[in-house]
Amino acid sequence: MFFYNIGQKYLVGRARELFRVRMKRLTYVSIFSRELSAQEVEAIGALSVRNNTRDGLTGALFCFKDIFYQILEGDDKKVDACYARILNDDRHTDIFCLKVEMDIRSRFYGDWAMKTVLLDSAQEELLIPLRNMLDSLARTHFILGKYAPEQILRTIQEGLNPLDQPSFHTSRVVLFSDIMGSTTLTESLRAEVLADMLSAYYEIANRCIARAGGTISKLTGDGLMAYFPIEKAQAAVEASLDLLGELGEYRKRQRSGDPRELLYAGVGISAGPVLEGSIGSDVRKDYTLLGDAVNSAARLESTTRKVGRTLVFDSRLRDLLPRNRAVKRLGLYQPKGKLERLEIFTIPEEATNIGLTQAELKEKMSRFKSGIGG
Ligand SMILES: Cc1cc2nc3c(=O)[nH]c(=O)nc-3n(C[C@H](O)[C@H](O)[C@H](O)COP(=O)(O)O)c2cc1C
Repeated sequence: MFFYNIGQKYLVGRARELFRVRMKRLTYVSIFSRELSAQEVEAIGALSVRNNTRDGLTGALFCFKDIFYQILEGDDKKVDACYARILNDDRHTDIFCLKVEMDIRSRFYGDWAMKTVLLDSAQEELLIPLRNMLDSLARTHFILGKYAPEQILRTIQEGLNPLDQPSFHTSRVVLFSDIMGSTTLTESLRAEVLADMLSAYYEIANRCIARAGGTISKLTGDGLMAYFPIEKAQAAVEASLDLLGELGEYRKRQRSGDPRELLYAGVGISAGPVLEGSIGSDVRKDYTLLGDAVNSAARLESTTRKVGRTLVFDSRLRDLLPRNRAVKRLGLYQPKGKLERLEIFTIPEEATNIGLTQAELKEKMSRFKSGIGG
């Protein structure tokens, strides 16, 4: 009898688990992609009520100035399907998921298929602090979206706390890039011109790396560290060639004698096992990678100055490239603090050719100090 009861309870529990509708609650903010009238916003609300009633979803949509703040709750899959439609809606942009609560047991907005509140026209005094709070919340997240590492943002978007995520062992392609002669540039140029060059460099680097499926893990003031999945070694090389090629185009677009003509960067790439995750103290953490591949990529990047090539990688990276990818061996190189020498390579293409020595580059840069250069 005792075992019968236990068995029965277990089966009832399992059946409940199997048939239980898994509910979630999702909260996001977004910004209007164009001006929307109150009628247009109300039309979104009306359509939402119709669809959400059909799909058993509930929630609230707040709208103020040019910002939407929406909470959607209900069956997991229905929420996902609705959110997928919302993500594709061209009436708003910069959609930023603030929170996903999984396995919720009850609804907050059970009576509302979608309560739409236009906070701009709401006069109640009590709504003023709410309006201000939502405004600063939305703006903070748009700013965070520009500065926080992608992996951290992705974790927040999945509704997880990045501080709770343990580090893990994996294999990555690691890329370092740096502006050449940045110390001389800093000494020689007006801060505005330097800031302009840095923005151009980061804009190009960001675009090329993101397009190839890479993640920028940190900006170093005059350079960056990025990483790619280990299967994307070729994409990392192509991204580097794009970056160097686009910098070449940028230099060509400048008028003769403009210091922007001297914007060159070096790229070093390696690959191998790393420890990835939030690493640091309780006060400050960085989402980063640790491992030999990281040190090697940084060292390889600094050799670009010595070998006259803007792109340098080691044999671990070369071995991941397809056989038909033309590579050029540059020789053996002894990195600082390492016992073995590394075989180093580049891609024999115009984009990786600096065309002038470091001494020549620095001499050209320092001319701006005395104002001779333009
Ligand atoms: C800010 C915002 C919130 C929205 N909320 C919902 C919603 O809760 N439910 C919904 O079905 N559609 C919502 N939509 C509309 C969807 O993006 C999409 O246009 C709609 O679901 C398509 O429905 P249909 O296939 O019935 O035409 C929203 C759109 C915007 C811009």
